[in-house]
Amino acid sequence: MQHNLNLFRRRGRPKQPAGMPPCGIPHPCDRLRVVFPSSTAPSPVSLPAPAANGDAYLALLTVLANAIEARNAYASGHTRRVGAFARAAARRLGFAEPALRAVELGSVLHDIGEIGIPDRILTKPGPLTPEEEEQVMRHPSIGARLLRSVPELEHLVPFVLHHHERFDGTGYPHRLAENAIPLGARLLAVADAFDAMTTDRPYRTRLSPATAIAELADGAGGQFDPGVVDALVQAYQAGELDPVLGLSRAGAAVAD
Ligand SMILES: [Fe+2]
Repeated sequence: MQHNLNLFRRRGRPKQPAGMPPCGIPHPCDRLRVVFPSSTAPSPVSLPAPAANGDAYLALLTVLANAIEARNAYASGHTRRVGAFARAAARRLGFAEPALRAVELGSVLHDIGEIGIPDRILTKPGPLTPEEEEQVMRHPSIGARLLRSVPELEHLVPFVLHHHERFDGTGYPHRLAENAIPLGARLLAVADAFDAMTTDRPYRTRLSPATAIAELADGAGGQFDPGVVDALVQAYQAGELDPVLGLSRAGAAVAD
């Protein structure tokens, strides 16, 4: 499916097929991915349990994530929505607590490394220079380094470090492919892209949820784990994402 929308805007790269921005924030992450075909189902990997529980713990981490989001007006609510989407897909894959909790926490913190990226790059409206792209691509490693310094958060490192890996092995920072990518990171990648497509960006308006779902399906096996895409599609079709998308079933029909 093709859309007359510039979802990637990567400077100097071949024309992108219709697909998804890699990160839910209208920062340069949106310009760093390409979609290629591939296929493999997800492995039934279990996620590590969070070292701590409770709403206060999540609330504190959310405050931290919101402080980072506040640097970019278009990012408001991004981590919360990504957490909800990833959790819904994880439930469809059979995850239970405490793995679901880890998915949620990892989602909240997935872009925490952006704290190490200058504002002038994160909010730059035009194309990035190669040097700026390199700086943006460091944010997963920066985030992982931050989490490694806190023993209670170290179990979330795989989410943060690998959320820009691609299923076909062309992502970053380590170019992992298929099941070598931690399942939590594969969940995050799909949820992140879905939120990016269904929210407005400075350079394009949002896609309808149904169109975004179709785009995810197009990227399944290339950019995205097909099993994770299937899980999110099931959750969407069951109406489980509607509260996060601000839709009633009737509203979804109108929006589509
Ligand atoms: Fe990111």
